[in-house]
Amino acid sequence: MTMTPLKSDFLEKMRQQFDNAPYPRKPLEEVPKNPKSIYIHSLVTAYYRRNQKVITPAGKVILDAGCGTGYKSMELAIANPGAKIVGIDLSPASVDLARKRLQYHNIENAEFHAIALEDLPSLGVQFDYINNDEVLYLLPDPIAGLKAMREVLKPDGILRTNFHSSLQRTIFHSAQKFFSQVGLMSGDEPEEEIEIVRQTMKCMSNHVFLKAKGWNSNFETDDQTVLANYLLQGDKGWTIPELFTALRTTELEFISMVNWWDWDLLKLFTNIDELPLSIVMGLSEKTVEEQLHFVELLHPINRLLDVWCGRVGQANSYTWITEWTDEQWQAATVHINPQLLSDEFKQDLKSCVAESKPFPISNYFSLSDEPMTIDSLNAACLLPLLELPQSMSALVQRWQKLKPFNPVTLEPTSESEAFNCLKNGLTFLEEMSYIMIETTK
Ligand SMILES: C[S@@+](CC[C@H](N)C(=O)[O-])C[C@H]1O[C@@H](n2cnc3c(N)ncnc32)[C@H](O)[C@@H]1O
Repeated sequence: MTMTPLKSDFLEKMRQQFDNAPYPRKPLEEVPKNPKSIYIHSLVTAYYRRNQKVITPAGKVILDAGCGTGYKSMELAIANPGAKIVGIDLSPASVDLARKRLQYHNIENAEFHAIALEDLPSLGVQFDYINNDEVLYLLPDPIAGLKAMREVLKPDGILRTNFHSSLQRTIFHSAQKFFSQVGLMSGDEPEEEIEIVRQTMKCMSNHVFLKAKGWNSNFETDDQTVLANYLLQGDKGWTIPELFTALRTTELEFISMVNWWDWDLLKLFTNIDELPLSIVMGLSEKTVEEQLHFVELLHPINRLLDVWCGRVGQANSYTWITEWTDEQWQAATVHINPQLLSDEFKQDLKSCVAESKPFPISNYFSLSDEPMTIDSLNAACLLPLLELPQSMSALVQRWQKLKPFNPVTLEPTSESEAFNCLKNGLTFLEEMSYIMIETTK
C-alpha cells in the first residue's frame, strides 16, 4: 500500500525544489517591458472588467502570492504606480532573490516574507489585489490555497489565479509520470536530472509521440523549460468545469479569463451562418462556463486556465458598452488606458496628428497579433485624454471642430453625426482596451 505523503512532507519537498531552482531564472537587472504583461498585472484593468469603473492604483495593497524570484512582483510594481507590493513564497531562497530584485530597481514600497500560501491570514493584512500566478496547480490542496487567499482579499478585492489545463498539457503530465516512475523528480539534483531527461530524449526514436509533439530545440538549451514541463513536482491539470466548481466551493465568483481575447467561442468558426441548425441550437443560451468549456474542448491551446475572480456578490452590474443607450453614452467619461501614457506614446501621437498621418497604436500595446492604426481624426480626439479624462460632450464638440463639414455635401457636421461617429470609434478603442469608459447612468 502506498502512503499519501503528509502535507508538511509535501511542502518541504516543494520548498526544496524551488530553493534548489528558484523560478523564474531572470537576470536581476532585467526590466520587464512586455506591454501585454503589464496590462495583465494592472489592477485598473481587472477592476474595470469587473465593475466598468476606473480606479487609481495609488495606495492600494497588492499581494504576489508565490512570488518566486519576484519578476512578476516587478511587473506588478510597474503596472500599479503608487501601490504597495507584498510578496510571499514558501522558498526562502526565492524570497531572497525577489527582495534583491526590487531593491536593485529602487522599488521601495515592497516587502517579502518566506511563508506558505496556506498561512497567509497570519500576516494580518487585507489586499486589494492578489496575483497568484503559476502556483495553485502545485499545491497539495488547491481549495485550501484558494480559501486562504479569499480570507485575505478585501470585500471588493480581485484575485488573479490559474491552473494548468489538463487538455493542453496531457503530454507533459504523461512525461512527468514516466520520469517520476523511473526514479527522477527528487528535487535534490535538478541539473543532473535535466541532463538525464535530455539524454533520454536524445535516445528516443523521433516518431515517438512524446518526442514528436512534446520536445523541441528549446528544451535542449533552456534548463528552466525542462524543469517546468518534464520535472515539475506536484503538477496537476484542470478543466473549466473543475475550475468553476473550485470557485463555487470557495465562494468566489468568476470575473473574466485574464487572456479573454483567446477564449472567444465565436472566433473558432469562420462561417457561423452555415453551421448545422442542431449545432447552432446546442451552442445557444449557454452559460459563460459552458462556452469556455467548449473552447477548451475544441481548441486546447491555452496552457493556463487563467482567471480573475472575486468575492461573490461584490460586482457592480453593468451592461457592455455595445449595448448602451444614447442616454448612457451622453453620461459617459472616457479615460485613456494609463499604461499608454509614456513620453514616447505622447510624442508619436502628437506628431501623427500634426502631420495628419495614421497613428500606429499597436506599436505601444496590442491584444491582437495584427498591426493596428488609428486614423488621424480619431487620433486627434485622443489627444486631450493624455491630460485628463474627457466627458462625451467635450469630445463631441472637439469632433465638430476637427471636422466642421461633411466633405461630400459640405453641410456642417451636426452634433448627432459627431456623436455617432465618436461612439463607433470609441467602441472599437474600448474593445481593444486602449481606452476605458464609465457612465453615471
Ligand atoms: C512556478 S513558480 C511561480 C513563481 C511566480 N509566481 C511566477 O509566475 O514567476 C511557483 C512558486 O510557488 C511557490 N510555492 C509552491 N507552493 C507554495 C505554497 N504552498 N506556498 C507558497 N509558495 C508556494 C514555489 O516556491 C515557487 O516559487
